Order: sequence, then structure tokens, then C-alpha cells
Amino acid sequence: DHRPLRTTPVENSPLQIFVKAKKKINDIFVEIEDYVDDAVDYMKSIEEGQQIIEQEQVKQTETFKAKVHGIRDVLARDHMKVAFFGRTSNGKSSVINAMLREKILPSGIGHTTNCFLQVEGSPTDEPYLMLEGSNEHCAVESVGQLAHALCKEKLNESQLVRVFWPRNRCILLRDDVVFVDSPGVDVSPNLDEWIDKHCLDADVFVLVANAESTLMVAEKNFFHKVSMRLSKPNIFILNNRWDASASEPEFLDQVRRQHQERGIDFLVKELKVCTPKEAEERIFFISAKEALLARLAEQGQNTTTPLAEGFQTRYFEFQDFERKFEECISKSAVKTKFEQHTQRGRHIASELKDVLDNIYSDAQKIKEDKLHQRKDLHDKMNYTEQQLMLITREMKQKIHNMVEDVEQRVSKALNEEIRR
Ligand code: GTP
Ligand code: MG
Repeated sequence: DHRPLRTTPVENSPLQIFVKAKKKINDIFVEIEDYVDDAVDYMKSIEEGQQIIEQEQVKQTETFKAKVHGIRDVLARDHMKVAFFGRTSNGKSSVINAMLREKILPSGIGHTTNCFLQVEGSPTDEPYLMLEGSNEHCAVESVGQLAHALCKEKLNESQLVRVFWPRNRCILLRDDVVFVDSPGVDVSPNLDEWIDKHCLDADVFVLVANAESTLMVAEKNFFHKVSMRLSKPNIFILNNRWDASASEPEFLDQVRRQHQERGIDFLVKELKVCTPKEAEERIFFISAKEALLARLAEQGQNTTTPLAEGFQTRYFEFQDFERKFEECISKSAVKTKFEQHTQRGRHIASELKDVLDNIYSDAQKIKEDKLHQRKDLHDKMNYTEQQLMLITREMKQKIHNMVEDVEQRVSKALNEEIRR
């Protein structure tokens, strides 16, 4: 098998759908914030000495500022969350490590992970962890230390330990993917609590199954519970430890077909979370152990481990899983997380528009009233003018008459004098 390995250029990653959408929606909220600020400033500047804007309207507009701010805060913390479940030792922690390209989480034979571990990107260069209910940063240098730190604490298996890993050490963490590792579903009676605490905001679930056996009742039950609480959760099934098939090549196709059929039936008929066509794109046959070793080798760390027959195919399938996973999680997160923000943003914009519309129509009314008053005045002035004109015309006539009268009288008097 000589298929070339996929090395994803960063810009090409489907995770960019989420990253870009997040940036875009944040930019829009920056604009809305500017717009609200401008509106508040403007309202305050004309508020004084005027009756156009009511105090109440200014206050209401100021609440939009707080709302926009709140949304931007939540948006900044929005991420894509993937949660891994499966029976003890199926390789959940190993899958996460392979995806992170580094041995971050403790893994090993027996019951290893004994509480919920969330790996998320940190802006600092040093990894640290935080226990539930505490803000204290505990430095961790290595997996050994991490395991030790986890052992030292008496942790309840539903408890969450957050592992902050430098963003610059992993593209997935840089692009806001958060990984949740869990204890085996077969070791806990508290599955409902797990779902309440850790699953409701997950965008994708990965069922890490063991290809050496088959899907177990404990695993199925857990996902039945999940799909009862969430509508159509996105579930991937990884048939891990597929490297074991290398030792029994004669059964490989047959076993694969069996796992594939059972997986599809589980997703389509039992959980009813997807169509048969979709289900085919959700089931993979991989080896997390090999994938991690290969990646460590790519980075020049170790490895002398001989890889079993068919490694390339399994590694290729692991990368195929990653790509489909990235597409699924970014689209799902954009939809579930940003749809709400968009609606709230639209609501704020339309409320602000209403306030401004009201102010505008109030102002318009005042203007019309004033115009009306002026028109009245104008009419009044016209009347007076006319009156004045009439009066002056009358006066003129009177004077004219008077003059004529005087003239007549004078000339009459003159004539009489002459006759005399
Ligand atoms: P718990 O935390 O105990 O629930 O187990 P887990 O599901 O996290 O499994 P973990 O990743 O700790 O793996 C258990 C053991 O299986 C480790 O020794 C791994 O090295 C080994 N392992 C994991 N994946 C594979 C695989 O694909 N092939 C083989 N051969 N071994 C694997
Ligand atoms: Mg584990």
C-alpha cells in the first residue's frame, strides 16, 4: 500500500468553516456594538433641552450595549466539542492522543482514565490543569505527571479535570476543538449524570469500539440514553485495534463486513440518528496506537516499533476519519452555537431600529406641529396685511376725496372772489 499520506494544509482544514464563521459573526457584533454606541452618543447629545428623546429610550438603547457585550463574551468562549465514549481499554485516550499528535493523556492496559478529562487549547506556552471547582493552575510537564496529578486527587468519576495544552502545539486545539475523554461506560452506574454534565453541549460523539470483539450492551445503552436526550446526535464509530486483524488476514473482510453491518444497524435502525448512506461515512476501522506511533515518528520522536501488515490502509482510514470528523463538527457547531447568536443579534438590531424609528416619527410630528403653527401665523399675517392694505387704500381714497373737496371748495371760493 503506497498511498501518499495526507498532510492537511491549515487553510484547507474543514475546521476553518467554524473558525471563519466565528470571526465573521464576531466582526458583525463589533459593528452592531459600534452602531449601538453611536446611537447612544447621538441620543445623549440631543437629549438635553429637547423633548424629542425620552430618558426611557436612552436607557433601553444602553441595555443593547450590555446585551451585545454579553453575546461577544459567549462567542469568544464558543468552541467545538467532541466527546469519546466506549468500554474500558478500547483505546479512547489513545485515539485522542493520536489526533493531538502527542502523548498527552495517560493510556495503558487496565482501567486507566478514572474521571472526565477535557483537553483544550491554552494561549500560554506551558501546559497546566484545573480541577473542578477550583481556579488553581497546576503545572504539568508530562503524561506521567498528569497521571500522577490525577491519581493524587481523590476524584469522583463524573468529575471534570481540564487540561490546558499550548495551542501552538496542535492545530486542532488552535482551531477551538475541545476533546473530552471519559472513563469506560462499563465501569459507571452514573451514566445519566455523565450525560447531564458532559454531553449536552457536545457537537460530536465518538464511540470507540473494540474491533477484536463487538459492540457491547453497555456501549449501546449509553448511546441510547444520549440520543434520548439530544435530537439526532452526531455519532462516529471507530472500530479500534484493527491492527489485530493483521494476524488473521483470512477473516479480515468477513469481520469487517460484520462490524460494518452491525454499526450501520445500530446508528440507523436502533438510534435512528442517520440514514444508511450517512452511516457508511461514520464508521471506520483504525488503529489508534499505530496512528500515534506514526505521528510521533513523523515528528522525529522515536520509533523503532515494527508496524503490522496493512498499516498504511489503517492510517489512511484514520486520516479519512479525521477529515469527516472535522467537517461534521465544524458544521454542527456553527449551526447549534451561532444560530442562537445570529437570532439574538437580529433581535437587538430590530429593537434598536424600532427605538430609532419611534424617535424619528416623534421628531417628524414635532416638526409638522411647528410647521402648522408657522402656517397659522402666516395666515394671520396675511389677513393683517390685507387689512392694512384695505385700510391704506381707504385712507388714500379718503385723502384723495378730501383733497378734491378742498380743491373744489378753494376754486369755488376763488371764483366767488373774482365775481365780486
Ligand atoms: P480506559 O481509560 O481505561 O477506559 O481505557 P481507554 O479506552 O482510554 O484505552 P487506552 O487508550 O488507555 O488503551 C488501552 C490499551 O490499549 C493501551 O495499552 C493502548 O496502548 C492499547 N491500544 C490502544 N489502541 C490500540 C490499537 O489500536 N491497537 C493495539 N494493539 N493496542 C491499542
Ligand atoms: Mg482512557
